[in-house]
Amino acid sequence: MPQCPQGVRELGRNHPWLRFPNSCSAEACCCQAPRKHPAIDRQIGAERGLWRHSDQSKKHLSCAALVLGTWGGGLVHGPAAATAASTRPSGSLTGSSSTHEFQAETRKLLDIVARSLYSEKEVFIRELISNGSDALEKLRHKLMSEGKDLPELEIHLETDSKKGTLTIQDTGIGMTREELLSNLGTIARSGSKAFLDMLQNQAEASSKIIGQFGVGFYSSFMVADRVEVFSQLAAPGSPGYCWCSDGSGTFELSEASGVQAGTKIVLHLKKECMEFASEDRVRDVITKYSNFISFPLYLNGQRVNTLQALWMMEPKDIGDWQHKEFYRFIAQSYDEPRYILHYKTDAPLNIRSIFYVPEMKPSMFDVSRELGSSVALYSRKVLILTKATEILPKWLRFLKGVVDSEDIPLNLSRELLQESTLIRKLRDVLQQRLIKFFIEQSKKDPEKYAKFFEDFGLFMREGIVTIAEQEVKEEIAKLLRYESSTLPPGQLTSLSEYASRMPAGSRNIYYLCAPNRHLAEHSPYYEAMKKKDAEVLFCYEQFDELTLLHLRQFDKKKLMSVETDIVVDHYKEEKFEEHRPAEECLSSQDAEDLLAWMRNALGSRVATIKVTPRLDVHPAMITVLEMGAARHFLRMQQLAKTSEERAQMLQPTLEINTGHVLIKKLNQLRLKQPELAHMLLDQIYDNAMIAAGLNDDPRPMVNRLNDLLAKVLEKH
Ligand SMILES: Nc1ncnc2c1ncn2[C@@H]1O[C@H](COP(=O)(O)OP(=O)(O)OP(=O)(O)O)[C@@H](O)[C@H]1O
Ligand SMILES: [Mg+2]
Repeated sequence: MPQCPQGVRELGRNHPWLRFPNSCSAEACCCQAPRKHPAIDRQIGAERGLWRHSDQSKKHLSCAALVLGTWGGGLVHGPAAATAASTRPSGSLTGSSSTHEFQAETRKLLDIVARSLYSEKEVFIRELISNGSDALEKLRHKLMSEGKDLPELEIHLETDSKKGTLTIQDTGIGMTREELLSNLGTIARSGSKAFLDMLQNQAEASSKIIGQFGVGFYSSFMVADRVEVFSQLAAPGSPGYCWCSDGSGTFELSEASGVQAGTKIVLHLKKECMEFASEDRVRDVITKYSNFISFPLYLNGQRVNTLQALWMMEPKDIGDWQHKEFYRFIAQSYDEPRYILHYKTDAPLNIRSIFYVPEMKPSMFDVSRELGSSVALYSRKVLILTKATEILPKWLRFLKGVVDSEDIPLNLSRELLQESTLIRKLRDVLQQRLIKFFIEQSKKDPEKYAKFFEDFGLFMREGIVTIAEQEVKEEIAKLLRYESSTLPPGQLTSLSEYASRMPAGSRNIYYLCAPNRHLAEHSPYYEAMKKKDAEVLFCYEQFDELTLLHLRQFDKKKLMSVETDIVVDHYKEEKFEEHRPAEECLSSQDAEDLLAWMRNALGSRVATIKVTPRLDVHPAMITVLEMGAARHFLRMQQLAKTSEERAQMLQPTLEINTGHVLIKKLNQLRLKQPELAHMLLDQIYDNAMIAAGLNDDPRPMVNRLNDLLAKVLEKH
């Protein structure tokens, strides 16, 4: 009987137009003379690497329909059904059957595997499909090394809700009697591991074998009270066998006829597990765990796994649409990725990964989510965890994607990672690579990056605040962007760029936190700073202050809030020359008297009062040691309700500008109209506290302001 070439059947299943119900006799089938098939070649053949046929397309199409009815090694043409059958008959038992006891330790372990090893029952499907995939891989390896043609390599699942069965069949290597006895009779004995050991580092095949522990098969007893395994070695003339067990202590082994090359496993489901006889349920499980298995997977005759494991491919071979499709699958989302990083490496660890940054801006809910990353962990294309929180630092949780690494230590159930230095290493390598990627992107397209930073910057700030290691904080800090006093509004700059512009010898990176550029530029602190002629970064976001406080330094330069710098200058007793003519300011005697009066009037609301030459347009400013931290502390604690309480904690200094009209007027009024002078002083003090961001509730001063306004307007 002629064998049908792979491509035709493949096409038949996926392309309904090939399913013509024409009759096509085996004799007339063009498959016997495979060469060129114009219709198929033109349509899809080229991209799938199909066989080419010489006969007329019509004939061939009908043949395709015919062969849909059969599949697997030893495929036979004949008057078969025109739809794709899924699994083949099981074969009948011949000869005597022998009963075997599981080895003592296997019996005990079987119980553990069936009851408590796996967190979810559904993973038995993943385990059996993975075994099928390994069997196919072994057959492929064997035939290729013998230089033989490959037969159909595929896996079929069939649900039968009437009988309450789920059947999984592969056209793989199959098992001999001895292999059935030892591989399925002894737990923790992995024929696949032995196969790998035999291969000894033949990387190509070894990276594709999934089995390693020798327990996966027994997960079938979580859901089945009887499991039948029909298997026949994929070598001409090999006998078929049937292995059968209820998982309680013994299994039976007998020779069977009519068994197909490969392995077929029939699970007779427990009553409470009948859900796995439902096609929809099984499809969901396959799509979740085994969507990227390298071999075609069919469920009740329909192909399920159509997506490719992109992360295993060469980046240049992947089209945009493939990324979009894959992103939507992995992120369960309908937007598109704005950034894509496909990262493959073999040193220091084996990593195959793809990361996506979603187009959609994260909601507050996403930001505050306590969960870790949304990156899925695969091992050799099989899903291990949908959300592998361990493999990326928490601040990178906005990324979607996949990490696959042969080096990741999995525990027996595969679903748990063993926290180890290796996982930490993986996390570090990925973090470093991602930061590097974002820096590259910011150079490539600054505008696009600015949008990304606006949408996702909060995560970076969180990373800097929460991560303990200074080097890592500084790495993440390379991603921060701010406006700067030396650049036009709207243009952003990085800390690294700031550092590169610093004059030789300067050691501080200055920043000022304010709600927007206007307020920053008109702040008394910025005014005081201007005299130094240093570049100042303007930080507008709520958490910038906290972030920079935590960062403390960058590239050996100190991060210095301009407010703090003013205080530090005092300590250093740095002298700023008064640049105004003396007659524009109060005389030193007047100033001293005024200070004494103010001290008395303000009482415990200030720790010190002094004259500053650093202000022009502002009458006064408040300085506090570590202003940012103080502000943050006040906000968090909601303590200190009154100005006196606040002052006790902050120990503020009030610095006054004796050249300012308000201060000069105050000096006159304190003698002539003490009541008005007190009101004016209170207002100047409150204004300075507001400018310092230390007064969050200006309501109490409204009455005073009204009184002041009334006085101003008295004469009008
Ligand atoms: N469909 C199959 N075809 C051929 N051999 C199989 C098949 N299923 C299981 N085996 C053999 O039985 C062995 C045990 O399978 P089992 O799933 O318990 O362990 P494993 O796949 O080796 O490791 P893991 O626990 O990681 O899955 C396999 O190593 C393999 O040799
Ligand atoms: Mg297995």
